[in-house]
Amino acid sequence: MWKQIRALRRHGYSVESRHGLGYRLSGQTDLPLPWELARVLHTSFVGKQVVFRQSADSTQKVALSFAIKPDSHGTVVIAEQQKSGRGRQKRKWLSPKGGIWLSVVFKPDIPTAKITMLSFAAALAVCEAIRATGLDAQLKWPNDVMIYDKKVAGILLDISAEADQVNHAVVGIGINANVDASAISARLNGTKVTSISDELGRVVSRLDLTRVVLENLERWYLEIETHGAGAILREWKKNSDMLGRKVSVKQNNKTIHGVAADINDDGSLLLRTGNGDINVVSGDINVRY
Ligand code: BTN
Repeated sequence: MWKQIRALRRHGYSVESRHGLGYRLSGQTDLPLPWELARVLHTSFVGKQVVFRQSADSTQKVALSFAIKPDSHGTVVIAEQQKSGRGRQKRKWLSPKGGIWLSVVFKPDIPTAKITMLSFAAALAVCEAIRATGLDAQLKWPNDVMIYDKKVAGILLDISAEADQVNHAVVGIGINANVDASAISARLNGTKVTSISDELGRVVSRLDLTRVVLENLERWYLEIETHGAGAILREWKKNSDMLGRKVSVKQNNKTIHGVAADINDDGSLLLRTGNGDINVVSGDINVRY
């Protein structure tokens, strides 16, 4: 009995013990555990299989090992904490308990040239989910989710592709949900960091947030697969306050200044500089507010 009670508590459930009366489940968990997600998730394929680890090196690594299996389309790997979380540009991603650290496997029917749209879809899905908590989340190119000038979530895309066909894609999503931002502020050189709980002044249900993210992600994924990326880009721009602002882009030890004029159809950033327009394909930008 004790073993089961301990396991329940470890999974975030509250169990009261009353002398002489026994035990009572007195509080639900907020963790996105597979059986809890199965109860609430309304999707057709994303999250039909959920793998949960209390601790993983990186959910990307676990998900990539599933991605080579034929029936893994939509598999979600979630960890309560990551020991070696990965960020973009080979950066580390500190992932303590309290956050949402997950990876989704896709076997996409999307041309290789359009596959980066998946990270736009994921960023939009997360941005919409955070906005539903009441916060004014905004997208920053290429796929950061910000609250004003602080980063609250990031997206990582790993793909295995041939010239004309994608074998699999793994979308990594990191959301600073209920974490103390000061504990992760060392994560990003230069970029300020925040968390949903710091901004709201209360904790949020990670189960609920994960459900909304996965439902949004499936919707946007199906939109790309059936109609292409037009609607995603339009919606992405509506959820971003960086267009029209002055930005600087770091590229090979060089910093280019300009105005973020638009996002091109291929997902690159159109930067208007004093020396003409430049298409920025990858990198980090700083936005001046
Ligand atoms: C970024 O640098 O903005 C991307 C961060 C992506 C972090 C997530 S957390 C879940 C998944 N597993 C990882 O190791 N990284 C991604």
